[in-house]
Amino acid sequence: MYSIFIPNLVENKTIYILAIESSCDDTAAAVLINTKVASNVIATQKIHEQYGGVVPELASRAHQQNIVPVVHQALASANIDKKQLSAIAFTRGPGLMGSLLVGTSFAKSLSLGLNIPLIEVNHMKAHILAHFIEDDENSNIPEFPFLAMTISGGHTQIVKVNDYFQMEVLGETLDDAVGEAFDKSAKLLGLPYPGGPLIDKYAREGDPTKFKFPKPKVDGLNFSFSGLKTSILYFVQRGLKENPDFVKENLQDICASIQYTIIAILMDKLEKAVKQTGITAVAIGGGVSANSGIREALTEAKKSKGWKTYIPKFAYCMDNAAMIGIVGYLKFIEGDFSEQHIAAQARYRIS
Ligand code: KG4
Ligand code: ZN
Repeated sequence: MYSIFIPNLVENKTIYILAIESSCDDTAAAVLINTKVASNVIATQKIHEQYGGVVPELASRAHQQNIVPVVHQALASANIDKKQLSAIAFTRGPGLMGSLLVGTSFAKSLSLGLNIPLIEVNHMKAHILAHFIEDDENSNIPEFPFLAMTISGGHTQIVKVNDYFQMEVLGETLDDAVGEAFDKSAKLLGLPYPGGPLIDKYAREGDPTKFKFPKPKVDGLNFSFSGLKTSILYFVQRGLKENPDFVKENLQDICASIQYTIIAILMDKLEKAVKQTGITAVAIGGGVSANSGIREALTEAKKSKGWKTYIPKFAYCMDNAAMIGIVGYLKFIEGDFSEQHIAAQARYRIS
């Protein structure tokens, strides 16, 4: 990484960032004008639904098809010409290597062609820093330090955020991510991929206390979800043995009970983290922060415990490029740019 200072761009105060995200199965591009989102385009790859999960090779191929039209659309709907851009920000990792390579190569070539800086972004940091996007609907911007729980299809972490760029992982999952727990449970119930939003949908009509699932015993602020998945598997097998329509007849109650257990696991650890650090400002980020159960639990904690809570708007929960763009802007201000030989990194830790 190297630093250069571009005085007239910073003095002008108008910084145009084109951001590219391709870490998993969404091809996304956004334009940010300073901290505001001028466009935010996402092409979701439907091809994976039939396989019950993301197929890396297909994801990479779909990114190659989507990236040019998605970037064009992001520039067009922001009404920005590429010559106006100040820098290109891209997701370096973590994610699927074949997917990351498409966004990384595209970003590098464009920055070279336009002769503007390149800025690498950590996807999980971006889920956290998405809270700094300025929005007419969002005047709720966190102050440092705060705790962030990143909950997605690939990660589950509790992070102490000391500064934009100084973050400490306090705890994380030892096996499955929470999004995987949702998706794998949904698969056991015969629901299509990604099942998280469907569990959420059916849970709203069910009784969360109807079925009991064990909560894992894990020390400290770490998580584990693989035991829960196994207990759901046995529960479904037992039910179907007695009644072939067990899942169909109880779908809402099963989903509500699974969601209730997962949210209880997350909230227990979050409360522990608040006690341990004395920090009562709590943010969530990542795809699972779209879940109605976690959103309600945080809103309740705000009322009953006096926490300050930060819940992203739906467009910034799932993978998107606007969150990459805000990190691009923050790094641009710092003059923190990347060199052309930078490589994508499938495993890329926050701290
Ligand atoms: O952050 P994200 O879009 O991609 C990753 O970086 O993994 O998160 C995707 C995950 C999937 O596991 C999906 O099922 C889950 O987020 N998800 C949900 C909901 N919406 C998305 N899980 C539970 N309830 C939801 N409403
Ligand atoms: Zn993500």
